[in-house]
Order: sequence, then structure tokens, then C-alpha cells
Amino acid sequence: MRRQTDDPEPVYEVHVFCCTNERPATHRRGCCASKGSEALANYMCRRGMVKAHGRHIRINLSGCLNLCEYGPVLVVYPEGVWYRYETEADIEEILDRHVLRCERVSRLMVLPDPARMHR
Ligand code: FES
Repeated sequence: MRRQTDDPEPVYEVHVFCCTNERPATHRRGCCASKGSEALANYMCRRGMVKAHGRHIRINLSGCLNLCEYGPVLVVYPEGVWYRYETEADIEEILDRHVLRCERVSRLMVLPDPARMHR
């Protein structure tokens, strides 16, 4: 993402969106909610607030982020890095390494195909 020189400063240092979208069980794309996203995303919100220590970090639950097949997924801005997660330990690692130290958690990263995302 390229910022323009006259853009206002971002409100948040790190902004995370966690999909908690729910679809019927028969839906062809499935959904993050059926894979436990809501409990894990709420866990991330709680733990993120504890770990932020005054830093401007925001973690939001979101609707579908269009990577349903990989779910549960989240995306971290401003970097725009995507992760798949399954456990509270995964969440802790994303918080500790990416959100707080701007490192990457390679084992959980999702590499979306931009062509597929724009369909
Ligand atoms: S339902 Fe979570 S990305 Fe689509």
C-alpha cells in the first residue's frame, strides 16, 4: 500500500481483521465460523488488549474476507499480511511476533492469489 504525502496519519499502528462470517453448512465455499473463528477471534481481541500496553493496536471481527477456503483467516494492516490460525497458540504467536514485533509467522501465512481475490 502506498501512502500519499497528504494522507492523514493512520489511527492505528496495527489493525487486524478476523473473519467470523457464518454461512449455511451446505455453502460451497464454507465459512470461517464453522471452523471456530468466533471463539478464536474473541480470544485474539482479549489477548491483544492485554498485550498492547498503550500501543494503538486494534483487532476487529469482520465479515467475509474472501479467503474462505483457507479459514479461519485474518489480515494484519498496514502490511496486508494474511494468516490462517487454528489454535490459541497460533493467535499468541501472531500477536507476539507480527502485531507486537512486526516479524512474520511464516508457518501460518496465507499467500492469496490476487487474480482470484478480484473475481
Ligand atoms: S468466510 Fe471467512 S474469509 Fe470468507
